[in-house]
Amino acid sequence: MISSSRLIEKVLLIRPFGFEGQMRLKDCYNFHDFRRMAKRRLPSPIFNYIDGAADDEVTYRRNTAAFEGCDLVPNVLRGVGDVDMSVTVMGQRLAMPVYCSPTALQRLFHHQGERAVAAAAAKFGTMFGVSSLGTVSLEEARRICDGPQVYQFYFHKDRGLNREMMARAKQAGIEVMMLTVDSITGGNRERDKRTGFAIPFKLNLAGITQFAIKPSWAVNYVRHEPFRLPQLENHVDMGRGAMSISRYFTEMLDPSMSWDDVAEMVQHWGGQFCLKGVISVEDAKRAVEIGCTGIVLSNHGGRQLDGSRTAFDQLDEIVQAVGDRIDVMMDGGVQRGTHVLKALSLGAKAVGLGRYYLFPLAAAGQAGVERALELMRVEIERGMKLMGCSSVDELTKENLRFR
Ligand SMILES: Cc1cc2nc3c(=O)[nH]c(=O)nc-3n(C[C@H](O)[C@H](O)[C@H](O)COP(=O)(O)O)c2cc1C
Repeated sequence: MISSSRLIEKVLLIRPFGFEGQMRLKDCYNFHDFRRMAKRRLPSPIFNYIDGAADDEVTYRRNTAAFEGCDLVPNVLRGVGDVDMSVTVMGQRLAMPVYCSPTALQRLFHHQGERAVAAAAAKFGTMFGVSSLGTVSLEEARRICDGPQVYQFYFHKDRGLNREMMARAKQAGIEVMMLTVDSITGGNRERDKRTGFAIPFKLNLAGITQFAIKPSWAVNYVRHEPFRLPQLENHVDMGRGAMSISRYFTEMLDPSMSWDDVAEMVQHWGGQFCLKGVISVEDAKRAVEIGCTGIVLSNHGGRQLDGSRTAFDQLDEIVQAVGDRIDVMMDGGVQRGTHVLKALSLGAKAVGLGRYYLFPLAAAGQAGVERALELMRVEIERGMKLMGCSSVDELTKENLRFR
């Protein structure tokens, strides 16, 4: 029996306009299903913040398309009854070769935010990142997940602030420091300009209307604790009328950050340290020279420099150049277990997921992230069996042919 209030909601608010049509988590089998479900639930300024990218979004589209540039060449009759997909990357053992890449503002997408991602990562034995622009503190995330945790860091003009943030991460027991190097200034995200998406909110009329027609998101948002940016709040006033995120990027981050600055940070941290956003071979070599233990080939999901080469297209060249001296990871456009198998075949040690887990988070919170990770786990396992590989080491370039 449907309750009368639910009936009114369906008849008056939802069905006639098709704004929040019903879609169930169990109907989601892949990235596109989760994306569709998230789109139905989220006000469009928020959906477009996740879904959008820079300029003409060329790099964003190519990130996934790049995986179609080569084919898997399976071997058969290899006795693959049991498959071990675990990997070790930057000293951390992961039960599966994918991890949840750090992303900003997660409690805006679903009220559980980073808590959901941390709990799902713990359940699947993998690593997850908390962003500097995260909405749950890195300490709280640490308490939820005892598996490997990354702290994603931006380099501030104020060197004291950088050292203070590193000390806080050390104190919290963070295993991996990840410095994002592709965002010294914000990307040109035109979808956000059109909707007026900004933190604090500065919506235009069209944007406000989009919130009004997604009542369940709005109800959830106001029923839960106020939005916060706990990694930054001691240092930056992000309150009403104060610093916006775009001003944070332009005023507080240091565009003059150099290799010497980062070398000092690596020394200061004294543990696993990786650079996120490396694309050139030259930079990969510099990362080795300054003592980094990992690099993530990434173009920030196409959200920064449009026209930039995809991580997958650069992977082989970089693994050839530095793969024996540093752990090479990649992210961008990963939507399928077979994408992961292709990256591992070229020598990636692990693969980062972004929107692949964000849409499920927005669609259904922790249950959504868990379903997405389970589908990914099953796809990787099935793919490895069909490739004739019982462990990740057996995936090599021999299993790939470029078109
Ligand atoms: C909504 C959103 C927010 C993000 N926030 C951050 C961030 O705060 N710091 C960061 O280093 N990368 C951030 N990223 C980039 C991701 O960590 C990752 O590099 C990217 O999403 C991978 O591409 P994919 O979404 O196609 O998988 C963000 C990405 C998205 C989609």
